[in-house]
Amino acid sequence: MFRGFARVWTAALPSRSLQKKPRSVVIAGERLAFFRDSSGTPHAVADHCPHRGVRLSLGRVKGDCLECPFHGWTFDGQGQVCDVPWNPDAKKQNLRTVAVPVEERDGLIWIYTAPLVSSSPPPPLTLPATLTRPGLARAMLEVTWRTHWTRAMENMLDWPHLPFVHTGTIGRDMAKAMTPTTRLDIEIEKTPLGLTSTIAIDGKLQPGSLEFCKPNMMVLHIIDTPERQFCMHVAVVPVDDVTTRMVVVNTRSFLTPSVFNPLFALSNRKIVGEDRAVLESSFPSEAPPPGDELSVRTDKLTLLFRKYWFDELRGPTAPQALPILLGD
Ligand code: FES
Ligand SMILES: [Fe+2]
Repeated sequence: MFRGFARVWTAALPSRSLQKKPRSVVIAGERLAFFRDSSGTPHAVADHCPHRGVRLSLGRVKGDCLECPFHGWTFDGQGQVCDVPWNPDAKKQNLRTVAVPVEERDGLIWIYTAPLVSSSPPPPLTLPATLTRPGLARAMLEVTWRTHWTRAMENMLDWPHLPFVHTGTIGRDMAKAMTPTTRLDIEIEKTPLGLTSTIAIDGKLQPGSLEFCKPNMMVLHIIDTPERQFCMHVAVVPVDDVTTRMVVVNTRSFLTPSVFNPLFALSNRKIVGEDRAVLESSFPSEAPPPGDELSVRTDKLTLLFRKYWFDELRGPTAPQALPILLGD
């Protein structure tokens, strides 16, 4: 389960994209049905009914449970069967499906990529401070790319592409500074959540910084002064071998009324669209072992991600989310 992406917390959805109607979302090869119970708390269960396999997300929420559209069995947020119509004698305690741990924080719904087992809770979800700081306004966007998530993640951590792909937007200043002899240096430091990096052009430190928060979030600090903060977060969510869904969140400490959100969402869409045009052409779709492609000094941040991917997520010793269906 969740092959190559097991036992990690990931943003799954913007909160407001899950309303009364259940929603089907594929994450790392697993199709999940998200729904909100009567108190609004979100849950996620496997999106195929354990009775005859149809999609639970096509059903409806009844009380605190999700009702299957085929024979009306209902499932709670822990995956436990609550009702089996026509069968008052059914041994419901033995009937369950797989649920995964879910949390709703700072405008996003997060999941832990392993079956929910009450005797073995997941590690705590830790978020970047730029998402949790009070008083920030947020603009959100979901975008799907036709590429493997590792290519999309590396793109998000790639400083040198900015003046080429984002000439008129976030790469404008780097484009102006670039001459045939200009030198780019990338400084990287470890952080509790992953890595952070800054750049110097011909020895001069540039404003802004770029963070990698394991397993799949990029945080670009575009403006980061005590008076003013403007940050772009992108959760790069694996879907399948050739599809990635990006959940983009801009946070800002200025122009905070929500009437400005569409404007910032539009700017997110433009920037991410610039990347998409190039990235979807990557071959192979999944980032290969480092030795299979040419790399130079300024690729060190993306190579550190690639090492993390091969050593900790994808590799033969990667944590597995199995066994499933064993319940508690
Ligand atoms: S297929 Fe879901 S209740 Fe029968
Ligand atoms: Fe980019």
